[in-house]
Amino acid sequence: MWTKTCLTLTLLFVGLFNNVSSQELFEVRLFCDFGMYAINDFLNYACTVRNVTFDFSNPFYYIIIEGQHEPGRTNEDVGNFIIQSSNVNAIPANIFQVFPNIVAIYGFDAGITGINPPDFTFANQLRGIFASANIMPRLTGSPFFVRSTITDISFYSNQIEFIANTFFIGLLNLRYLSIEGNNIAALTPEMMAPLVSLRNFYASANRFETLSGRVFANNRNIEFIGLNENIINAIGPNAFDNLPNLEILALSQNSCVDEVFTINEDITIETVNQSLQQCFNNSVPEPPRTRTLLFEVRGNMTFFDEYNDELLRIEGRW
Ligand SMILES: *[C@@H]1O[C@H](CO)[C@@H](O)[C@H](O)[C@H]1NC(C)=O
Ligand SMILES: *[C@@H]1O[C@H](CO)[C@@H](O)[C@H](O)[C@H]1NC(C)=O
Ligand SMILES: *[C@@H]1O[C@H](CO)[C@@H](O)[C@H](O)[C@H]1NC(C)=O
Ligand SMILES: *[C@@H]1O[C@H](CO)[C@@H](O)[C@H](O)[C@H]1NC(C)=O
Repeated sequence: MWTKTCLTLTLLFVGLFNNVSSQELFEVRLFCDFGMYAINDFLNYACTVRNVTFDFSNPFYYIIIEGQHEPGRTNEDVGNFIIQSSNVNAIPANIFQVFPNIVAIYGFDAGITGINPPDFTFANQLRGIFASANIMPRLTGSPFFVRSTITDISFYSNQIEFIANTFFIGLLNLRYLSIEGNNIAALTPEMMAPLVSLRNFYASANRFETLSGRVFANNRNIEFIGLNENIINAIGPNAFDNLPNLEILALSQNSCVDEVFTINEDITIETVNQSLQQCFNNSVPEPPRTRTLLFEVRGNMTFFDEYNDELLRIEGRW
């Protein structure tokens, strides 16, 4: 089995590393503790490994699984994979070939330093990604681009400082996102825009100072917004407009507001608005939205002013 998986990986990276043709292949033995194990809501037959030291960002490795399966179980039955108390740099992309039906993965104190392609190249069944107590200061690129199956992500407490606007691209079905307990400085509309199915958003205990009025403009299904313990001093006045399913807006321990709002028949978003006047007043007006129009001119196009004088003439080609 491993022969096939390592060959596939090697082929995949040949373009990237074509000057190291006789690269050594490392054998990595993972000793699995097999059994039922819950990762948040995902309760599945699991492989748990501990104390692994290997840099999985080096693609030249193959995995050998050790440890005793439960009677009648095989690698195909493994739905959860947990790696803890380890030093691995990256999520091993190859693990999704060894265990082809992984649904949820959890790296706890695993020494993960970032989330990058090709981590999820083979993760066809993956729905949940959980990482905590790692050190991943910068999350960049678009590692989930081909993984619209993912519904749950938690990056609780990983010393994250920066998330690129492109990072969540592709996560059309993400319902649960936690980036709580990090040091993230900015939460932008561009970053949130791909998350059209988001229901629960946990982002307390970061360093957000301002919220754009458009930050949730694409997250119309959102039910829970957790932004306690930031340093928010300004919010664009329209930030919480048109969120018909919003139930909890948690904004305690911020600079311009210190309250958790539960929205119901009595407390509408209009009522909440009253409590946010200070935050709204501190916000600077949003720059106008820009739109790009692309014309293909076949023939000629001329713009005239009110005196019929030519302003601009574009000569297209037939
Ligand atoms: C972790 O692995 C190292 C060497 O690989 C070994 O010396 C050490 O005893 C292991 N620690 C635990 C807690 O298993
Ligand atoms: C909240 O107040 C702001 C400014 O006062 C306004 O622009 C916004 O539309 C209000 N939202 C709702 C839902 O009433
Ligand atoms: C916000 O600004 C409005 C209009 O300038 C003013 O009437 C209101 O008192 C201000 N509210 C707070 C809480 O600063
Ligand atoms: C566009 O303008 C050129 C130059 O003035 C002219 O030769 C050509 O016939 C025009 N084409 C059309 C479709 O009007």
